Amino acid sequence: MSPAEVAENSPGSSVGTAERAVADNPAWYHTIELAPGVTTPGAVDLRDVAAKLLPEDLSGKRALDVGTFDGFWAFEMERRGAEVVALDVDKVEAAEWPPASRPEMERRAREWGVDLGRGFKTASGLLGSSARRVICNVYDLDLERIDGPVDFAFSGAILLHLRDPVRALERVKNVLESGGELRLMEPVSLALTLRAPRRPSAVFRAADSGFGWWLPNLATLHAWPRAAGFASSERITFVRPPARRVRQVYAGLRCIPG
Ligand SMILES: C[S@@+](CC[C@H](N)C(=O)[O-])C[C@H]1O[C@@H](n2cnc3c(N)ncnc32)[C@H](O)[C@@H]1O
Repeated sequence: MSPAEVAENSPGSSVGTAERAVADNPAWYHTIELAPGVTTPGAVDLRDVAAKLLPEDLSGKRALDVGTFDGFWAFEMERRGAEVVALDVDKVEAAEWPPASRPEMERRAREWGVDLGRGFKTASGLLGSSARRVICNVYDLDLERIDGPVDFAFSGAILLHLRDPVRALERVKNVLESGGELRLMEPVSLALTLRAPRRPSAVFRAADSGFGWWLPNLATLHAWPRAAGFASSERITFVRPPARRVRQVYAGLRCIPG
């Protein structure tokens, strides 16, 4: 080991500490830079996407991250000045997997060593984050669970995992302060979007995909928040973030409660 490597790996070094903490978790979901040059080997790298989807400045705002996993969006919102509440279920078994694939999904999660909350805790500690992780199913979200309303909510790649995305969006809308907004990012079917640009349609995936219920076209992604009571929605962008398993096209929307 070179002197520099010895220094980096010494017990007091933040780089060494971060490297050991990263190596300790076999199942990172997000790619997050935790210390200079130390990045979690997450399956999904949203680092270039954040600037497209989040406002530059969230200072003075209270923000909600719906389905936080390792906390990438929570930490990004905090970095922009927000006080953040990050929502998640306590373990993968509590997610709403389609019944047909639930045993296989649970087996895979065990095999991959997925332990919800572990990455968040590690990342939060190393980043010195104050984001608060609240265990709560989005279907049960209310003002009491998160100690009052939020000005800004972000929901990423969770509606596809829910049998009832509209119910989840209704819950998010109910905790938004008046004048607040929701931004969401979900995978969309480009084929269905081109075939039916205005007619809401979606691929129903629960019978043949491991963990997804829906792959909506863009019109459905706009229709879900409207059905949940949002007054309007506009597309911000399409993105295709690097991902280890499936490289998917996502649409980012801004939804206003009205
Ligand atoms: C695919 S990951 C997306 C993580 C992150 N939001 C993103 O955009 O990269 C889905 C996350 O939603 C969480 N989740 C799934 N079902 C949920 C539910 N019913 N209520 C709250 N969180 C849920 C999962 O545990 C996981 O953290």
